[in-house]
Amino acid sequence: MSKITVSLIKADVGGLPGHVTVADELIKAAEENLQNAKDSGLIIDFRVFRAGDDLELVMTHTKGVDNEEIHKLAWDTFEKATAIAKDLKLYGAGQDLLSDAFSGNVRGMGPGVAEMEFTERGAEPVIAFMMDKTEPGAFNLPIFRMFADPFNTAGLVIDPNLHNGFVFEIWDIYEHKRVLMRAPEEMYDILALIGAKSRFVIKRVFPKEGGKLPADEPVAVISTEKLYQIAGEYVGKDDPVALVRAQSGLPAVGEVLEPFAFPHLVSGWMRGSHNGPLMPVPFNYSKCTRFDGPPRVIAAGFQLANGRLVGPVDLFDDPAYDYTRQKAVEIAEYMRRHGPFEPHRLPMEDMEYTTLPKVMDRLKDRFESIE
Ligand code: F6R
Ligand code: MG
Ligand code: MG
Repeated sequence: MSKITVSLIKADVGGLPGHVTVADELIKAAEENLQNAKDSGLIIDFRVFRAGDDLELVMTHTKGVDNEEIHKLAWDTFEKATAIAKDLKLYGAGQDLLSDAFSGNVRGMGPGVAEMEFTERGAEPVIAFMMDKTEPGAFNLPIFRMFADPFNTAGLVIDPNLHNGFVFEIWDIYEHKRVLMRAPEEMYDILALIGAKSRFVIKRVFPKEGGKLPADEPVAVISTEKLYQIAGEYVGKDDPVALVRAQSGLPAVGEVLEPFAFPHLVSGWMRGSHNGPLMPVPFNYSKCTRFDGPPRVIAAGFQLANGRLVGPVDLFDDPAYDYTRQKAVEIAEYMRRHGPFEPHRLPMEDMEYTTLPKVMDRLKDRFESIE
């Protein structure tokens, strides 16, 4: 059997109202366009989601990653949705389409991409995670815990198929370099890097040689596009997505979801310039309201059947996550009380909107040297 590729490609092409959520009209336009592509045989299957104000396309096909036809399909779908967003005067219509014309590949053009090609197993659970109002580094903690933390993933200790650990592909997104690191052997060095989550991000996770799964086929992939770097100015946070495979030699679905029971602090939220808790929510709460947030994550669970998507199951639609949501609300309240003070507001170098240079410029003649 040929390998299957799952592509999760997303863009913010207009919000309703402001940056809260995606209008039904845009979801419908995207579904129509992807249905045509499915009818023509280009893709095997698809699902469309909204994560806050981001339009999310999950597509399956046999064309591999970075395929021009698939990326063009995503781009055209975003352009069609943008035309509707412009007609409805939705907020920031077309904001993530940073280029006027498609040229081969959506990477570096604004949309975020998580895709992986692999040999579909006898039973293949895949989870699509979609976040809004945060950045790619928000995935560092949960992905590390799934694949390297024995206090999260019991299988690392008690399942011989996981016991050897995994290989992490980590990107330095400032220097545009990557490194492959092995867990558990290099666990402390991995943490030394990925704890600096605005610079070092986990891009992929691979199984090790000699295990149940091919060592060259990823088991998790995260979008790492940095809009700020692409556009050279603030054009919205990067709002990352990830695909994670589960079970039979990989973390179980429950081990993949478990890290999200802790609403860890991530950067983003209002004006892409605040730290706040990441709240796991069901699809119907995928809208960012309080202070344009707090940052949110949804999880869609599927089984693959020769590339067909069976599902989705709305995985955070579970009272087992109520406590986490309550905790996230308490943390949101605590952080909000800091107003414009760090560490609620990001440190200056990470701020995406800032009037500080202008304030400094105005005050420059009034500053005196201190003896
Ligand atoms: C954060 C985000 C929003 C906007 C805020 C101001 O990623 O998208 O918090 O930054 O609503 O938006 P503008 O500058 O468009 O008025
Ligand atoms: Mg927006
Ligand atoms: Mg967004």
